[in-house]
Amino acid sequence: MKLAIDQERLNSEIEALAAFSDADAPAVTRVVFTAKDMEARAWVKVRCEEAGLLVRQDAIGNTFVRWTGSDPTLPVVGTGSHIDAIPNAGKYDGVVGVLGGLEAIRALQQAGFRPRHSIELLIFTAEEPTRFGIGCLGSRLLSGTLSADAARKLTDNDGASVEEVRRKAGMTGELEQVKLPTAYYKAFVELHIEQGPILEREHVPLGVVERIAAPASLRVTVEGAGGHAGAVLMTERKDALCAAAELILTLEQAARTSGSIDTVATVGICDVFPGAVNSIPAKVRISVDIRDTSLARRDGVVRALEEACHSISAKRQVTVHSEWLNSDAPAESDPAIVATLRHACEKHGFRFLLMTSRAYHDSLFISRVAPVAMLFIPCRNGYSHRPDEFASPDDIARGTLVLAETLAMLAE
Ligand code: GLV
Ligand code: MN
Ligand code: MN
Repeated sequence: MKLAIDQERLNSEIEALAAFSDADAPAVTRVVFTAKDMEARAWVKVRCEEAGLLVRQDAIGNTFVRWTGSDPTLPVVGTGSHIDAIPNAGKYDGVVGVLGGLEAIRALQQAGFRPRHSIELLIFTAEEPTRFGIGCLGSRLLSGTLSADAARKLTDNDGASVEEVRRKAGMTGELEQVKLPTAYYKAFVELHIEQGPILEREHVPLGVVERIAAPASLRVTVEGAGGHAGAVLMTERKDALCAAAELILTLEQAARTSGSIDTVATVGICDVFPGAVNSIPAKVRISVDIRDTSLARRDGVVRALEEACHSISAKRQVTVHSEWLNSDAPAESDPAIVATLRHACEKHGFRFLLMTSRAYHDSLFISRVAPVAMLFIPCRNGYSHRPDEFASPDDIARGTLVLAETLAMLAE
């Protein structure tokens, strides 16, 4: 089989998809079920149909794109990722796995390959947590990690429920139907940019992911007392932002001193009320994101945060309330798929590293119901979740070629 990736087409599709954005180029903002996301979905769907593939959508908008195998009764070989993008993001996070997945299928078709197992590209809904506060909404429902009832309780920043938002976006059916049937997949492989600097630094073009770190996130609300910025004496204050600042630095310290570089903690959102220059902050809401490859170590940082909530609340006479958004276990890749990926790299003479994904991906949740593994390509300076995220067309094409080879090995 002579596999050829149409690098030019793939690259121009990545550029075209980046134009569906609520931010000015080169930034991409594409929040799930916004008008731009809906336009982007429709555009991708047309590309898939042009390739002769069968497109269907489930009740949360996960989009399955099937190349039917010669024995359609066999479990499916899956690939895919997401096209939603956080505010002020880049062009490649998720998109490389979706458009690369489509190109891998087209390359296999072009090469005359005939799969025995159906090969399916999956475009997950809301991998990013921007709208509903929780990441991987689609894959959590597919894997049964999140129940339909729990999903229905989620609301967006404007208070609209998942149910309202998805119906308005044209999704039909019930969320109960999203969960995958048992043994749906033979294997699932996700192609993604590394989102870290290791491959580039080591001058190695590919990474075979052996595990995905465990994410946890919380929303913490601090309530103190507001007042006049000039008139209230410093000794009388219950400044919610100062309390939150102390909490944030305690969290940073806990992550820095965990004993492993794999521990990371981030506060990415800080809403201050009432938010006036001459008013003492009365209420602050922060987001907390903690991750680690070790569940025990990650939960150690969570405990340190909880203890800090108590002690800072007592010391500063503010109330601190924390609410869990998610707390997930890490995932291990399936050794047989890892071996297939390694074999595909070796067959084409490409060097690879075995690595850990510190970012989460839908594969984390699909791993609960199917054998999974991931393939990483380098990205410049390890930048991701920012507008200057960049992966070179050569690296993308190389990853796509290895993905195609791997899908063929798994589907024959
Ligand atoms: C995914 O975007 C993550 O935050 O790891
Ligand atoms: Mn992302
Ligand atoms: Mn991603």
